[in-house]
Amino acid sequence: MKGNESSMKYLFEPRGVAVIGASQTPGKIGYKVVENIVVGGFGDKIYPINPRGGELLGLPVYGRMADIDGPVDVAVVVVPADRAYGALEECASKDVKFAIVITSGFSEVGNVAEERRIARFAREHDIRIIGPNVFGVYSSASSLNATFGPSDIRSGNVAIITQSGAIGIAMIGKTKVEGIGLSAMISVGNKCDVDETDLLEYLAFQDDSKVVLMYLEGVKSGERLVEVLKKTTRKKPVVVIKSGRSSRGAQAAASHTGSLAGEDKVFDDIARQCGVIRAESIQEALNWCKFLSDAAMPRGEDCVIITNGGGIGVLTADACEKYGVNLSDEIADLKKTFEDVMPSFGSAKNPIDLTGGASPEDYDKALVAALHNDNIDSVACLGCQTGSFDAERFTQIAEERYAQYRPVKPIVFSLFGGEEVERSIVELKAKGIPVFPDVYEMTSFLGALYRDYRNKSSVQAEPAKADIDVAAISAAIACARADGRHFLLAREAQEVMRAAGIPIPMSRIAHSPDEAVRFAEEIGYPVVMKVISKDIIHKSDAGGVALDLVNTK
Ligand code: COA
Repeated sequence: MKGNESSMKYLFEPRGVAVIGASQTPGKIGYKVVENIVVGGFGDKIYPINPRGGELLGLPVYGRMADIDGPVDVAVVVVPADRAYGALEECASKDVKFAIVITSGFSEVGNVAEERRIARFAREHDIRIIGPNVFGVYSSASSLNATFGPSDIRSGNVAIITQSGAIGIAMIGKTKVEGIGLSAMISVGNKCDVDETDLLEYLAFQDDSKVVLMYLEGVKSGERLVEVLKKTTRKKPVVVIKSGRSSRGAQAAASHTGSLAGEDKVFDDIARQCGVIRAESIQEALNWCKFLSDAAMPRGEDCVIITNGGGIGVLTADACEKYGVNLSDEIADLKKTFEDVMPSFGSAKNPIDLTGGASPEDYDKALVAALHNDNIDSVACLGCQTGSFDAERFTQIAEERYAQYRPVKPIVFSLFGGEEVERSIVELKAKGIPVFPDVYEMTSFLGALYRDYRNKSSVQAEPAKADIDVAAISAAIACARADGRHFLLAREAQEVMRAAGIPIPMSRIAHSPDEAVRFAEEIGYPVVMKVISKDIIHKSDAGGVALDLVNTK
């Protein structure tokens, strides 16, 4: 076990938990946290702390941490901001390993100095801080609900790290409604110490967590996060919702958590390179998380669509292109596979169109045929409500066949129609079968599953470090720094690209129009002409870029 893993374990599986600021007053956060820990089933090593003493929910209340017998690995701090420092001094007196500082009123409101003060004290006393400004931590491994959110958290195998408290608390309720079980839920808040990377590093190895979902507004330690993401996504899917995509959204993130959202395109590209599965919305992320942990992994890229409706088949084919799902083109093989079940006017061109008259038994035969064909790696089964579509019987078949498919290859369903069909969706979903009311939702999940498959099956081609001339790159950067610049000139950027082994177009620096013409002729038309000046960074905005020059006129 690595260092971070073994130390983080105490956060998720503490031997004792104290609540500093435990209150007798229902409605106060200091009451709710104790109640949640008790109701959550953590056990009896719960220590409410309040100078008033007495008893709370059947537990003795301690005046000081030093009076507690036995180890206390986690302390939840729920005293006002001006008392948080004192609470940490209490933690130090008892060798507490993690302080979950729920208290608000620090850097998020400009009180940076006090946040730094508690962070420094904690560092000096080997206490890791979660927060401040968080709603707490849930861990199914120890049935610990040290939050002031809902008390009935459904346990399972999805771990959630959230930078937004309100989204996190609401997700506890939402995941329950969606039938998603949680292995962990951590609110990171102002991240004065522990951040998403520390947590991800632990969750990557934690067996209970099969999928990690992160809600991010901004990232502090980008380079470390990239490293940890790359390692984690080879083991388990990491779904990320990153807000602040638009300039207005980025402004909102800055005032919400003080985060710098950064250029979204940059985040998006880095996330893709790290194997992150980025969701557009919370609902999309939850749809993926619900089924990713339990779905069969495809063994290859070829997917087959089975449908009774040409239209939804076409829509699904569109969606497959959008979400990177490859459709099998082995026409002869598909024809042979489905010839017994398809009417003469059907189509085996993938989508396999069983046509509107398809009975549940036709579906059954088609699903069995696809299951037994080794050239088919995954199946998307679509059902439109028609005169011969018996939703109840379809549901039975889907359930039966899903059980057979699960150990072999992925199968997903999308059903579209009226009340009976909606009932089938609810019923199948409740049984953990990936079924969706819309083909785009279904295919987006299948796309996520394929990204997970690709992350795990291909060792990402890392550039060989030896091929990169690090000294040349450092020299170019040092030159810009010496010049007092925070950007590279075009010539320096080209040097960096060359040193990194990235091919770039041929270029010359001309100091006069005549020289420019001579160079253009040497390179060969068409050419691009750009201004080089340390005073002009945004060349296009300044009219300093001319594209597609085919001659000197
Ligand atoms: N040790 C132990 N208990 C202490 C204490 C200390 N050093 N100092 C005070 N207390 C007790 C208080 O006496 C009180 O207990 P009581 O009800 O028996 O009197 C209890 O701790 C809480 O203190 P109180 O002053 O009543 O604070 P509060 O409950 O009104 O608010 C917070 C405390 C932390 C909840 C509040 O300051 C806060 O930050 N709220 C926002 C939390 C939030 O939203 N976080 C982000 C979520 S995403």
